[in-house]
Order: sequence, then structure tokens, then C-alpha cells
Amino acid sequence: MKKFPCIRLLFFIFLMNFAHTGVSQNRIVVHADQPGAKIDKAIYGQFAEHLGHCIYGGIYVGENSEIPNIKGFRSDVVAALKDLSVPLVRWPGGCFADTYHWKDGIGPKSERPSIVNVHWGGVTEDNSFGTHEFLDFCELIGADAYINLNVGSGTIREAAEWIEYVTSSNESPMTKLRKQNGREKPWNVKYWAVGNETWGCGGNMRPEYYADIYRNYSSFMRAPGIFKIASGANVEDYKWTEVLMREAGRMMNGLSLHYYTVPNNWQKKGSATDFDEAKWFVTLQKTLKMEELVTKHSAIMDQFDPKKRVGLLVDEWGCWYDVEPGTNPGFLYQQNSLRDALVAGINLNIFNNHADRVRMSNIAQMINVLQSVILTKDKEIVLTPTYYVFKMYKVHQDATALPVEIKCNQYTFGSQSIDAVNCSASVKNGVVSITLCNLDPNQSQEISFDVPGFNLSKVSGKIVTANKINAYNDFGKKEEVSLADFNGAKINKGKIETVLPSKSVVLIQLQ
Ligand code: AHR
Repeated sequence: MKKFPCIRLLFFIFLMNFAHTGVSQNRIVVHADQPGAKIDKAIYGQFAEHLGHCIYGGIYVGENSEIPNIKGFRSDVVAALKDLSVPLVRWPGGCFADTYHWKDGIGPKSERPSIVNVHWGGVTEDNSFGTHEFLDFCELIGADAYINLNVGSGTIREAAEWIEYVTSSNESPMTKLRKQNGREKPWNVKYWAVGNETWGCGGNMRPEYYADIYRNYSSFMRAPGIFKIASGANVEDYKWTEVLMREAGRMMNGLSLHYYTVPNNWQKKGSATDFDEAKWFVTLQKTLKMEELVTKHSAIMDQFDPKKRVGLLVDEWGCWYDVEPGTNPGFLYQQNSLRDALVAGINLNIFNNHADRVRMSNIAQMINVLQSVILTKDKEIVLTPTYYVFKMYKVHQDATALPVEIKCNQYTFGSQSIDAVNCSASVKNGVVSITLCNLDPNQSQEISFDVPGFNLSKVSGKIVTANKINAYNDFGKKEEVSLADFNGAKINKGKIETVLPSKSVVLIQLQ
């Protein structure tokens, strides 16, 4: 009789443990025996638009600034971006691109005309950051450049001359002008896009009309090794992809796709830091839609391009929240929490898993705008949780994707459920890297891995997590979210076993 309560207590303790650890259901097979496509390093690209304080104040402060700088570029930002191995930067927009006339941004700075940024806050810009500054900045951080041409309010001649100015080594009026402006040798710029969101801010076009415009522009875009990018679909506009691929697919190297994670709706998007578990759940659930979008757009591209010559380029993605209280609504300035780290980890895993078709992605945006990797305020700098995920995931750049099979627990909130674990894997220089997200904010996940085709001898790891779902890094405060060592993975009888902490992004590396 006396034993009975004790057994009940043990059973209760067992149940409590079970309640905090998603046991038994999580099994992952990483197929090192079936290497897949190369994960193009451009998947880890960034987007920098003339918007708010992304360019002015974020990247560029000018040579006379009191903020330490290298030829006008913030030294702290340059160092942080170099450490991230940023492979690619897209510029000058975004919606801004279709209002930008590049000749306004070359020559002596004192003679450059000002412009009004009509899309973003109506502010006047002095054009001190133009083509030379952008390309110098890319060289400084070791990134490739991706230039978005102006189709909405520009001309074919303007576009063709820009390409010539930047890339040509011939004797010509444009190369003469470039040399007069201090740059003897051409830059090696491979990626050029024909307009941005041409279904919206870039001209409100129909796909049939834009397909013809694209063919027209594309015919005059000449440079060695040029990679031509067509303005692609908004979210699930599959008709756009179909028409573009049918009418212009053979003249393009890449077709873009834009998808933002908006927790609520476009009128009231939700706060970046003041949110509960319901908003956490819906944000991650909406992020997982990227898998469906990439799969369905790829399937349409397969019909017209079965050899996968044309890349699907997700050149704008990220979380879009309400702006921080008291900031200019046109500047799209938002904080960045552990939730954003999960959003970044999930999206990047999806892109890695589709590396056969997805050849580029650009998080929106690099600094001080939407889901940024860096925030700046005057002299201060903050590295966001998203920054640390990019730092963790850089091991995948130019690695070979490994197919993953995953059987996992569900994370249930209210009446809805999503997979608790999200994962991708790659191999480079004999090291297998597996990146995992535990979407569940309450339960850790026990996982057992098989890695056929790989001899396990050593395991190590890194983690991004925090004790609150809305933990974030702020100016003048100790970091709440950063990158730490993770020692929770072990080799046991030829398998890897680990427990992923709740609400975490984890890298496991095998040698
Ligand atoms: O990233 C902000 C804006 O979002 C871009 O300018 C535009 O392309 C998109 O609608």
C-alpha cells in the first residue's frame, strides 16, 4: 500500500520529463552517400537598398564623419560583414531601383545632383553613395556585386551604358568617363537584374508585357559572363513564373521570387519584440510557406527548363514587422529577436535543400531595414540574432548539399501543428555540417542521426538560443543572443545523438 504513491510520483516525474523533451520521434538520415547540388554561396547574399539608414548612416557615413571609417564606409560595419563572409550584395533597390538614374551618382560628389527618395520617406539624398562607392564597398568586404537596373523609369540606353561603364575594357565614351572618375580597370560585376517587382512598384506590369520588356532589355545587356535576372513573382503568383519562363526563359539566367514573413497582416503587421507564443507560432508557420513556394515555382520552371539552367533567386526575404515606435514609417526600421534567428535558419535550410534550383537569396535587408543582420545608432553597432545565424551557416557556402530525411515531432499550438524540427546538411573539405532549428519554444528535442556514407570520428557544434522567445540585442546592453559552442551531440554506436534545446538554431559538424 505504501509503495503506491511512490510509483505514482515516479510516473508523474516521468511524464513531466516527457512533457519537456520531445523524445523518440525525431530521426534524421543525412545522406552523405548521395551528394547533391552545390550550395551556391550566393544563397547567403544580402540586400542593401537606399531606404532609411541602410546606406546612409548604416554602410556609409562619409570620409569626414566622426564615426571611424575607411574611405567613408563604417569600419565597425565593414569588420562585422567581413567576419560573416558576405558573398554578394544586391543594390540599389528594391523599389528605389526603378527611380534611380546612375549618372546622378558618379563624378565629383560636390557636383552630384540631389534626389528625393519618393518610395522611402520622401527624404532628399545627396547621391554621395553611387556606383563607385557601392563597388568599392563590395571590394572592401570581399563580396560580389549584384546591380538592379532601372526599368520602371529608365531606358534601355541608360541600362546598357551602366553595364558598359562598369564592366567594359574597350575604349568607349562610358569607359572614358569611368577613367575620368578615377577607375581605370573595369569591375567584375556578373549579376544584373532587369527591374524590380515589375508587377508592383517597378511599373505595375502584366507578365506578358514585362516578358517583352525583359526580352528587349536583355538584348542590349552585353558583358563577359553576364548573368541576367528577370523580375519574378510575388509570393504565389505562379502565372507570372509560367509566362516569364515560356516567353523569356531562354534569355535569362535567373528569375527572382519575393516573399516576406508578415506575422499578422499588411495593415497591422505586429511588433518585432513585443509578442507572445501565438505570434511566435504563426510567424514560423508562415516562414515554412517558403518550402511550398520554392517547390511550386521550381516545378513550373522544370516544365520549361528541365536541365535547371535558370536559377530561382529569392532576392528578397525576411520578416516584416511594424516599425519601431517613434521611427519614420518610411524607413522600415525594426528590431530583431530570437524569433528572427529561427526565421533565418528555416529559410536558409529550405534554400540549401533546394540548391539544385535556388542559386541565390538576399535577406532584406543588410543594415537598419526589416530583418537586418546589423543595426546602427550613431557610433553604436548591434549584431542581431540573424547575424549570428548567418555566421553559423557560412559553412554551407559553396559546399555540396546532402539530402536529409526527417521524421520528427509536431509542435502544436492551439489547434494547429507544424514540424518541430527543420534541417539541412552539406559536406565540404571532408566535414559534414548539419544545421537544425527547434521551432518548439517549450520542448527540447531528442534526435538520433544516421549518416550513411560517412565514418564518424569527431563531433562539434554551435548554438544560437536564449531563455526568452523575444530576447534581442540592444544598444549599450550586454548581448542576449549570440553564437556559443554546443557540446550536446555525441557519437554512440555509429549514430549521432543529441538533444536540441527548445527555441534554438544549432550547427552540428562531423569529421
Ligand atoms: O525591402 C523593401 C521593399 O520590399 C523593396 O524595396 C521592394 O522590392 C519590396 O516590396
